[in-house]
Amino acid sequence: MTDYTVVGTDELPPGEHVVVQLEGRLIGVYNVDGEYYAYTNWCPHQGGPVCEGALDGTTEITFDRSCLERSTNWVKEDEILRCPWHAWEFDILSGEAMHDHDVRLISHETKIEDDNVVISL
Ligand code: FES
Repeated sequence: MTDYTVVGTDELPPGEHVVVQLEGRLIGVYNVDGEYYAYTNWCPHQGGPVCEGALDGTTEITFDRSCLERSTNWVKEDEILRCPWHAWEFDILSGEAMHDHDVRLISHETKIEDDNVVISL
């Protein structure tokens, strides 16, 4: 594995992301509440540029069998990455697809060194 310094922490405030090119691959680097995440800009659905999508929330539907009531809630605000091609949703904290937890984005280890975000490939 090789470590790459990609961006200063002061250049990537919470809620922001950048896309960088490393070893011929585009990598999206995200700051979510001070934690950093990095994913290859490739959607496991049909290879779309997932890191060009928006960070948003998603709708969660629950069903109470005892009273047969359904409720709809907006959850995970700014923690869902939505692919711009067909709107598949991914949890930015884990890279898992919201509809199938066996489907994941390609993630990369991140760490902070000297106030810089470093990615290992
Ligand atoms: S390529 Fe991303 S949802 Fe289809």
